[in-house]
Amino acid sequence: MEQASCLCKLWNRPESLCKSELKWFFSGRRDRQTSGKVPLYRLTQQLERAKMAILRLEDGTTYTQLSDITRELAPLNIQLNSWPVGDNPEIRELLALDAIDDNQKEQVLQALDGYFRQLSETAGYQSRDLIVLHPDIPNLDTLLSKFDKCHIHADDEVRYIVAGEGIFGFVRPDGSQVEVTVQPEEFINVPANTEHWFYLTAARKVKAVRYFTTTTGWTPEYTDTQVRSGLATV
Ligand SMILES: [Fe+2]
Repeated sequence: MEQASCLCKLWNRPESLCKSELKWFFSGRRDRQTSGKVPLYRLTQQLERAKMAILRLEDGTTYTQLSDITRELAPLNIQLNSWPVGDNPEIRELLALDAIDDNQKEQVLQALDGYFRQLSETAGYQSRDLIVLHPDIPNLDTLLSKFDKCHIHADDEVRYIVAGEGIFGFVRPDGSQVEVTVQPEEFINVPANTEHWFYLTAARKVKAVRYFTTTTGWTPEYTDTQVRSGLATV
């Protein structure tokens, strides 16, 4: 088996790996903590983590390689980084639930506050919260309708997707539009005054940490640009 091509597939399109490729990849792998065979749930986590953002252009071209996505987003100065949530099983269990209460949200936030401290020290971030959206939220559509139209913010929109996924759309300086499906354990920074929109994939589930420098700077200011939505497969 071609090792490089298998690793490449594992990183970019893990769902496309066939049985023999999976067997090759995990054969002989040992769990570092137990020295035993890697348990199934850990393999699933590894595969989940290997998921990457997907970027789609209006002509249907799709990119999943970070280098391609970075190139396509470069005119907008958008940052997209992979940020692991860590191995804490309690936190992973909370992230797997649809609804969590305020105490559980705080537990998740505190577990991830290393990132917040970094943002506070380097860019003056003042607060963070955890937004949890799922189909059972009664006013979900109303909530989402605030963000699915083209808008800008006075501050950067800084989000860390910790579970589920969300689609960010952007208008590039040449007027072209792109959409990026941001996956779990990915951080995105949309600079202030970037025309963008946001909606959920068909699963309609996301948990995201939102970081703020002020309490008002992320209020949407709508623009007249029509969203040519649905570029992403939802
Ligand atoms: Fe926004």
